[in-house]
Amino acid sequence: MTDERFAFVVVSNRLPVDHVIAEDGSASWKQSPGGLVTALEPVMRLADGAWVGWAGQPDVDLPAFTHDGIRIVPLALSDAEIENYYEGFSNDTIWPLYHDVIVPATYHRDWWDSYVEVNQRFADATAAIADDGATVWVQDYQLQLVPRMLRLARPDLTIGFFNHIPFPAYGLYSQLPWRTQIIEGLLGADVIGFQRVSDAGNFSRAVRRLLGHTTKSPYIDVPPDGDLPARRVVARAFPISIDVEAFEELARSPAVQARATQIRQELGNPKTVMLGVDRLDYTKGIGHRLKAFSELLEDGRLRVEDVTLVQVASPSRERVETYKHLRDDIELTVGRINGDFGTIGHQAVNYLHHGFPREEMAALYLAADVMLVTALRDGMNLVAKEYVAARYDEDGVLVLSEFAGAADELKTALRINPHDIDGLKDAIMQAVDMPRAERRKRMRSLRKRVRENDVQHWSRGFLRTLSEANDGVDRFGVDLDPLGDLEWTVERPPAS
Ligand code: G6P
Repeated sequence: MTDERFAFVVVSNRLPVDHVIAEDGSASWKQSPGGLVTALEPVMRLADGAWVGWAGQPDVDLPAFTHDGIRIVPLALSDAEIENYYEGFSNDTIWPLYHDVIVPATYHRDWWDSYVEVNQRFADATAAIADDGATVWVQDYQLQLVPRMLRLARPDLTIGFFNHIPFPAYGLYSQLPWRTQIIEGLLGADVIGFQRVSDAGNFSRAVRRLLGHTTKSPYIDVPPDGDLPARRVVARAFPISIDVEAFEELARSPAVQARATQIRQELGNPKTVMLGVDRLDYTKGIGHRLKAFSELLEDGRLRVEDVTLVQVASPSRERVETYKHLRDDIELTVGRINGDFGTIGHQAVNYLHHGFPREEMAALYLAADVMLVTALRDGMNLVAKEYVAARYDEDGVLVLSEFAGAADELKTALRINPHDIDGLKDAIMQAVDMPRAERRKRMRSLRKRVRENDVQHWSRGFLRTLSEANDGVDRFGVDLDPLGDLEWTVERPPAS
């Protein structure tokens, strides 16, 4: 821990950097996987605050340090906590439940106990470094109890929470044995942000059903809670985004362009390169995508000489049973497709089970004629936005699942229902055959939307709402003025 105090603190399960120990025992820091880091790193650089989180390895108990301009405060998790709080409750209870139970959610009381304990530890660590009247921004489903724990310990703080994943309909949410505690935990925040309007609606409905509080979108009136006075909480959508400018700049760099050309050459210069980029997660619909693709080859609507599907599937949560099964399923399917349709010179699916640096991702996006985002449920899907940001040439077709949050904004993508395999196949063919003029028209409009709502816009919108929900005083050290359109700004709630 540290004696320092900060006016702005971000709290997330993972730090933006993972502590990696090499085989020779040497330790280093590497950028963490996942969209959260991509989204928040630029904000932190602006805000000059601290970031509390786990270093990605068991028992890493290190003092605070500065990495790449960001003050990092690591919090240690034991092996048992990783198993129960992280792999168990976070990723085998909440994750499947909040993603519409694509796989069954598992309920274990000892996982819950660990979740409570670890959330308390995050709250304590944050309370210890937050300055008087500081602003704390808690991130994501692993830490839903932290807002209330923090408010009880430090009523002087302004507390925001952002849920990066969907919030399920009450019919599903009500399965959770600890459904009331979680809602109460979240209501400790002044502002609760969601990806989609429907997520915020689901949350407010759960609050009404379980606690009977009055809600009038976007407000929820929370009655006095012990020593805490009555409060008015804001719950609404703030669709997250990416650092569009930085991504486009990367795509424009000569090295990335050269690499994109090289990728196409290495793939044998097929007429069409299709691309999927996902964490290897059952929510992403990778199996549905492979099924549609293999049927198109089978039907003869696509020929392996003309088309290659590059599937990047970055390793994720590998000790959780459902993820192990998924990997086996996907790898079996890829093997079958390649066995059935591949020729000596042409591989149907180029499957890559690694993460890649941003430069390589940008090159892949530039090399891909068709980007396939077929998620069965996804909070936002930043890959879709990265693809659009990279396509400064106004080319490429985005096939986008309506079950990804990004579908609310990216309206000129080819929207699909991944469960409808025939519909998905037709959309893939439409993408493959789309004339240049239509590709340009659609991509232009996607790019306009993604440029308008970049990650700076997202974070400023959230922080401004947070300051307005409190007393309008800007204490984030972030210039909140140049927000552009004020789509997300809510009127300050009348004093109650
Ligand atoms: C999603 C979640 C993040 C998480 C990321 C990677 O994007 O919303 O909170 O960090 O996946 O998953 P992991 O379990 O490796 O942190």
